[in-house]
Amino acid sequence: MCSIVGYVGDRDVAQILLDGLERMEYRGYDSAGIAGIQGDDFTIVKRLGRVKNLSDAIDPSIHFEGIGIGHTRWSTHGKVSVKNAHPHVSFGGLFTIVHNGVIENYESIKNFLSDSGYKFYSETDTEVLVNLIEYHFNKEKDSGNKFLRSVQKALLHVRGTYGIAVLCKRNPKEMVVARKSSPLLLGIGDNEMFVASDACAIVAYTKNVVYLNDGELAHIAHSDFSIITMRNEKIDAVKCQLDWEIEDVSRGAYEHFMLKEICEQPMALQNAMRGRFSDDLSTAKFGGLRLSPMELRQVDRILFCACGTAWHACLVAEYLMKKYARIPTEVEYASEFRYGNIPLEKNTLVFVISQSGETLDSFAAMQEAKRKGYRTLAITNAVGSTIARESDGGIYQHSGPEIGVASTKAFTAQVCVAAMLALLFGRLRDMGFDEGFAFVQALHELPAKVAQIVESREEIRLIAEKYAHCEDMLFLGRQSMFPVALEGALKLKEISYIHAEGYPAAEMKHGPIALVSEKCPCVFLATQNDILQKTMSNIQEVKARNARVVAVVSEGSDLSSGFVDDLIQIPRTHDALKPILATVPLQLFAYYIARARGCDIDKPRNLAKSVTVE
Ligand code: G6P
Repeated sequence: MCSIVGYVGDRDVAQILLDGLERMEYRGYDSAGIAGIQGDDFTIVKRLGRVKNLSDAIDPSIHFEGIGIGHTRWSTHGKVSVKNAHPHVSFGGLFTIVHNGVIENYESIKNFLSDSGYKFYSETDTEVLVNLIEYHFNKEKDSGNKFLRSVQKALLHVRGTYGIAVLCKRNPKEMVVARKSSPLLLGIGDNEMFVASDACAIVAYTKNVVYLNDGELAHIAHSDFSIITMRNEKIDAVKCQLDWEIEDVSRGAYEHFMLKEICEQPMALQNAMRGRFSDDLSTAKFGGLRLSPMELRQVDRILFCACGTAWHACLVAEYLMKKYARIPTEVEYASEFRYGNIPLEKNTLVFVISQSGETLDSFAAMQEAKRKGYRTLAITNAVGSTIARESDGGIYQHSGPEIGVASTKAFTAQVCVAAMLALLFGRLRDMGFDEGFAFVQALHELPAKVAQIVESREEIRLIAEKYAHCEDMLFLGRQSMFPVALEGALKLKEISYIHAEGYPAAEMKHGPIALVSEKCPCVFLATQNDILQKTMSNIQEVKARNARVVAVVSEGSDLSSGFVDDLIQIPRTHDALKPILATVPLQLFAYYIARARGCDIDKPRNLAKSVTVE
């Protein structure tokens, strides 16, 4: 969704801002803009559509003097228009601002400011905030740091969420930034400072960062900065090192980030497992859970909460927890949990799964679970993210940055972590050493098996291209293959805009079968040999209605190529890990269909990578 970048230093400011915005393009947006100080006034350039349109509009006469802010907007308040794009300027022209988040009480503030003579040019909540800052600035005495104080005072009146970066014409070498429930970090360079809502915007320039916490403001002047809270307490900045390389956020030789990330899955899985097995290789261990074996034994129920693809990972986790750890487990959409007042029994452990660690609904669900007094743990890919920091403990996926909007390597890493959790909980209960040992062995072999599928991607491309013209598709699977079917359907609709639905294979008879025809192919996940005959009956049912069938099976399956139109084989593995292996061909299937249809795979329409609104 919206992204912020800021720079204070001697380099070409506009260039740094544009570069940062381009690196955050993957998050989804509809317009972009930058602002800096030139002479004794702000220069602001905004454009609709891609950052490229913005950079084309920057003429050589633009020279920001050592400071600037930039933004990509994903509209919430007000339609997509240049007027509504950020940065916004206050009525008196003293301030300019970029803002991520939503000011909930903007209407009452707007009425108040209108009564005081302020005029508004856009429909945004952000313009209200920048004017409120100016209002306080005009009221404040000329002492101390009036710029910082005005931002702080304005924010005290604001309800909602924000990450902001503000420039003031009267203090042309300074920037004030602040955050509440919207990520913001400072990058510390040599005699220069960076600000970003996403580390990928600045990793090319510095790896020394400070993550701002909720309720903190930073004042940046030249290469110095200080942090205070809304209550004026001074904060000692906690400096961290980014462990990313610039290559992690570059496409390299790949045509799309999505394909790069699909191919990175063997490494992502290895990273998710590294150092997380017991010495006797019979169970998993996660220091970040901050729970002793005795406390883990006392868990009677588990709730998994998430949105989107991560919610599908929760569904696989539910299946694995029930089967291998025999713990009653439930899954909730984070957005439903938040308002559902869902009954939870005592000794329930709540897991929130979020790749970005910033999804607002997932964060809100986490806060709700914590409010009810439950221990709430996070499984996330983003170190230092809001969800990671506000949880009682958790597990980092270590998948590396995921740029493609359609989640791939993050999903399989989440499922891998879920399988390891099921192993851990299982071994604390009924699972014996041999079973645990075999589970760990299978996990060790998993990356090589995923690599095998990825290497055979040309075969999947040839199959996918046969189905690229379709407008409807069904994905069907039983047990742990049902969430995989949901994920396969989601991937396809996200990036190719083909209508696709995931269903439990047998449940298909109770409705979706009405859609089945020669125009609606069915993808069957038929990897489980114990229920293969049942799935084969379901295949017969759709074939009888002229549907073409693609089947994903385990090597050596009784379901052979003569039985279906197209067969995709995955290596044999432990039952618990089949969801991971079966997902990979579906990612490639969706990818090659979208590619054949000429879709913008890394930036699908209307979607955002990290959804920071409700
Ligand atoms: C958005 C993304 C999805 C993602 C979901 C949850 O909808 O487009 O790919 O699965 O958010 O994101 P999270 O970062 O919480 O896993």
